[in-house]
Amino acid sequence: MTGQLAEKRALVTGASRGIGRAIARALAAEGARVAVCYGASPAKADETVASIADAGGEAFPIALDVSDEASIAAGFAAALDRLGGLDILVSNAGVMLQRPLLEMTAADYDWLMGVNLRGVYLVGREGLRILREQANGGRVINVASDLGYFGREDFSAYCASKAGVLSLTRSWAKEFGPDILVNAIAPGPIDTDMLSLEAMSAEWREKEEQIPLERVGQPEEVASVAVFLAGPGASFMTGQVIDPNGGSVMP
Ligand SMILES: NC(=O)c1ccc[n+]([C@@H]2O[C@H](COP(=O)([O-])OP(=O)(O)OC[C@H]3O[C@@H](n4cnc5c(N)ncnc54)[C@H](O)[C@@H]3O)[C@@H](O)[C@H]2O)c1
Repeated sequence: MTGQLAEKRALVTGASRGIGRAIARALAAEGARVAVCYGASPAKADETVASIADAGGEAFPIALDVSDEASIAAGFAAALDRLGGLDILVSNAGVMLQRPLLEMTAADYDWLMGVNLRGVYLVGREGLRILREQANGGRVINVASDLGYFGREDFSAYCASKAGVLSLTRSWAKEFGPDILVNAIAPGPIDTDMLSLEAMSAEWREKEEQIPLERVGQPEEVASVAVFLAGPGASFMTGQVIDPNGGSVMP
C-alpha cells in the first residue's frame, strides 16, 4: 500500500459484497475514505465497513438503491454529508439474469436494465453533477463486463446493458473532460455470488475456464484496476476500458 489515495473521498455502489466490497476495501487501503453503498443488505455492508476498519481504514455504510432515483439522491446527500465532498465514484452495482430471449418478459428486461444501465446512468449523473460543481477534478469508474463486447446466448439483456455502460463511459469522458476522468472496467468471469462457482454447472464452469489464464478471477484482481484508475497513475486516461478478464476477450 502506498497511500496514493490519501485525502480522497470515494463512493462505491453495490459495495456490500463481491467486486464492490473488494473495491471499497482496496480504495480504503490506499487511504481513501469510502461510502460503502448497499441496495438491500445493511448487514453485509456493515461487514464491509468492519473489515475496512479492522485494516485501519475509514468507511461507513449508506443505503443507495441504484434503481430508485430518490434513493440515489438521498444516498449521495448522506454520503456527501459524511465525506465533505467527492473525488472518486465507482458505479459497480449490477444484477445478472440468464434467460432465453423467448422466455424473457418485459418486466425481466426492465428490472435488469433498471439496475445495470439506468442505474449507472442516474448514479453517474448525480456524481458528475457534484464533481462538476466542486470544480476540483475527480474520477468516475463504471463496472461493465467482458460480455459488453460480445454476445452470449440466454444473456442478451445483460450483454446489452454492459455494452451500454461502455458507451456511457465514452460519452461522459468527452462531455466532462478535461477535468473529470471517466473510465470503465470490463471484468471477465470473477468468483462472486453473481457467478457462484458452487452454483455453476460443470459445463458452464468449463466454458468460463476456457480462457488463456484457465481460471476465473478473484474480486481483488478487479479492485486493483479500480485503484489504478482512481489514482495518479491514470492521469492521462479517459474514455478507456481496462479488462481484468484472464484473456477472455482481447478487444
Ligand atoms: N462476477 C462476474 O463474473 C462479473 C463479471 C463481469 C462484470 N461483473 C459486474 O461486476 C459488478 C459487481 O458484481 P459481483 O460479481 O460483485 O456480483 P454480486 O452479485 O456479488 O454484487 C452485486 C452487488 O450489486 C448490488 N445491487 C444489486 N442491485 C442493486 C440495486 N438496485 N441498488 C444497489 N445495489 C444493488 C448487490 O446488492 C451486490 O452488492 C456488477 O456490475 C457485475 O455485472 C461481474
